[in-house]
Amino acid sequence: MRADGLERYELTWPGKGSAIALSGSPTERSMLLDPRRSLGRDGSRGSADSGNLYIEGDNLDALKLLKKEYSGRVKLIYIDPPYNTGSDFIYGDNFSRPRARCGEEGGRLHGDWLSMLYPRLRLARELLSEDGAVFVSIDYNESANLRLIMDEIFGGENFQREIIWRMGWLSGFKTAAANFIRNHDSILFYSKNREKLDFKKMYIENKDFKPLIKSTPQLREKLRELGLTQRQGRELIKFINHTNRPERYPIEDTWNCSEYDGLNSIAIVSFSGEKISKLLGIDQEFKGQKSVKMLMRIIKAVTGGGDIVLDFFSGSGSTAHAVMEQNAADGAGRRFIMVQLPEETPPDSAARKGGYGTICDIGEERIRRAGDRLRERTGADIDYGFRLFTLK
Ligand SMILES: C[S@@+](CC[C@H](N)C(=O)[O-])C[C@H]1O[C@@H](n2cnc3c(N)ncnc32)[C@H](O)[C@@H]1O
Repeated sequence: MRADGLERYELTWPGKGSAIALSGSPTERSMLLDPRRSLGRDGSRGSADSGNLYIEGDNLDALKLLKKEYSGRVKLIYIDPPYNTGSDFIYGDNFSRPRARCGEEGGRLHGDWLSMLYPRLRLARELLSEDGAVFVSIDYNESANLRLIMDEIFGGENFQREIIWRMGWLSGFKTAAANFIRNHDSILFYSKNREKLDFKKMYIENKDFKPLIKSTPQLREKLRELGLTQRQGRELIKFINHTNRPERYPIEDTWNCSEYDGLNSIAIVSFSGEKISKLLGIDQEFKGQKSVKMLMRIIKAVTGGGDIVLDFFSGSGSTAHAVMEQNAADGAGRRFIMVQLPEETPPDSAARKGGYGTICDIGEERIRRAGDRLRERTGADIDYGFRLFTLK
């Protein structure tokens, strides 16, 4: 119930008022450039000429500080916040928490999660350009709540799509549930202003279709048994996978699900070809790492020449990696802004043993090494660097 006694349709929780106030209060912090840990456009260590930013610190402060220079200038915000699985988020915002543990259910504090995300989304909206878009990854724990606060902050009319991201193939323990097997995350996609959204419709081209049959030794043997020569066997496989299918297929809102969509899943990283453990020289994957190919699809759909892409829960830096890859592919010169809390890696983890003391260490080194590889592979003349800022 509002102060004026009028009831209205909204999601509320104890602490919502403080969360709103928090988005409007100023921060006492400031951004400090660290040239020594910055990376030049050409990938040279210790140079600070890049248009990309990497900010180490709490994203609430970072978003407030970014407002000054970037209000209305960010074309795409992609975030992958903690999903509120019970223990996956740190909540240090400086306002008194209501005494009741708000919205507790199965160890998940929905109210705390909402109070964490709500002010950040409000600030995020201010940074978006009028033709911009925001994409948020989420799973079943908070997807219903997220949808409601996104409607409230961005306006229900700006809801564009709920993208279903099929996580991967079924194997081992995943199949053990005595229920339908859970195998998807969602990505909520909103525009800042639906009339002005700059969306580029995309297709999967025939050459990129997910194959209906793979040329395995067993299949080739079978084709030989049936009397086909090697060349006829290859022709038959090509006919089934390509010639007998459409020239291109429009991308649906279910990804990694259709007979056409060969986007690799990252959920089962060992098959995806996107492992960062190998890149970083550690024997452990970064939990929650998102697929670079998936992010490239989002980036391609809503950004172009010189646009700014922001990820303020950047983790291992997948979004920065995807921006560089997409720039190398189409030369559009997008810039990225990554924000990440310098959260310590667990003391016994492979990451810590490998010299990565914080998640920022992982993210920054991933961007450096991914850039080096990309330059070696493509020779593309793009910005491989970032200016590194800490919050003081
Ligand atoms: C699910 S992970 C993101 C993973 C990322 N998409 C990737 O591909 O690696 C969420 C990240 O948000 C970070 N995070 C949580 N609270 C934050 C805050 N207040 N400010 C900045 N980062 C935060 C966590 O440390 C974690 O690394």
